[in-house]
Amino acid sequence: MPPRPPRPRKVPRMYVCVCHAVTEDVVREHMEAGACSAKEVRAACGMRPGCGSCVNRICALLKESAPEPVLQGAVEAAA
Ligand code: FES
Repeated sequence: MPPRPPRPRKVPRMYVCVCHAVTEDVVREHMEAGACSAKEVRAACGMRPGCGSCVNRICALLKESAPEPVLQGAVEAAA
């Protein structure tokens, strides 16, 4: 009998907002749908006012998903 293939590892659900049980996946879905500020993400996720601890994490996710800035200086230096 051949050995069993390893079970796929479950990725733990990462909560961004514990007050409203909003996960990172849900936040990313709304960012992909066009929410581009913490206020817009919070509104899209249906988050009501809460402790506000999630705002920094939402901002970090927005920053991670932002396109890389054009390195104008590097382009000019290479020319
Ligand atoms: S963690 Fe989001 S409002 Fe408290």
